[in-house]
Amino acid sequence: MSEPLPTDLAAALEATAARRGHLGSPLHYLSETTSTNDVAATYADRGAPEGTTVVAAAQTSGRGRLGRSWYSPPGAGLYLSIVMRDKTAAPYLTLAGGVAVVEGVRAATGLPLEIKWPNDVVTPTEDRPGRRRKIAGVLAEASSSADGLQHVILGIGINLSPAAYPPDVAARASSIETELGRAVDAGPVLAEVLAALAAELRPLTRGDASPLLTRWRALAPSSRGTAVQCETPAGRLSGVASGIADDGALLVRVGGRVERIIAGEVVWK
Ligand code: BTN
Repeated sequence: MSEPLPTDLAAALEATAARRGHLGSPLHYLSETTSTNDVAATYADRGAPEGTTVVAAAQTSGRGRLGRSWYSPPGAGLYLSIVMRDKTAAPYLTLAGGVAVVEGVRAATGLPLEIKWPNDVVTPTEDRPGRRRKIAGVLAEASSSADGLQHVILGIGINLSPAAYPPDVAARASSIETELGRAVDAGPVLAEVLAALAAELRPLTRGDASPLLTRWRALAPSSRGTAVQCETPAGRLSGVASGIADDGALLVRVGGRVERIIAGEVVWK
């Protein structure tokens, strides 16, 4: 099902082998597929071990959160999905994915990024939060049976190069190369994101989520003290973001009470 790994990706992965743990081993590369999350789920259903990673150069049916599609043209982004099986870490994988992308992109390219709850990776815009542009997204999809959780597929899409984004995306998206004003190699970004994710997973698998939550809070300054509007399954809600709870829920102060948002979309006002 997979194709030979391009040499630039292979070299970067080799350079981070000691820091990646089991992430990226084995790694299946495809020049094009429907969705790397679907391919990784097929491997997981056949018993692939935790850390099995699928990377594609293009996706024809890439998907994002909330039923959206993820624009995935050839050569413009990194599209990867990782098979995760650790039940202790599972509830925190979306938060860990966002942190790992910020840490990995900075390690590989120097570009500073931020997180917008729950796990959008965006450009920092200190004074005007609404002007942030999305660079990457994380989609965790769980599969359970009567025996409990079978696996989580952690999908990550990172915009590397400028692309002809669809009109509804163009106003809100950017790429690493656009922000840096120079070309960027995909290999080090892939390898450093996997290494950063491995570092976040170590305490999580021991049952200690506090290092991840501390890091997430530091990388998501707008999750505290910013006026927000939230579109939730239960309706629209306006208030002031006041951080995340230890289970990852966004806390929003609305008048005298604090609401917990566990799913939905945040818009800065
Ligand atoms: C989001 O909506 O922000 C999440 C986007 C996740 C996109 C990635 S690309 C690799 C993997 N395969 C998919 O179909 N989706 C995820």
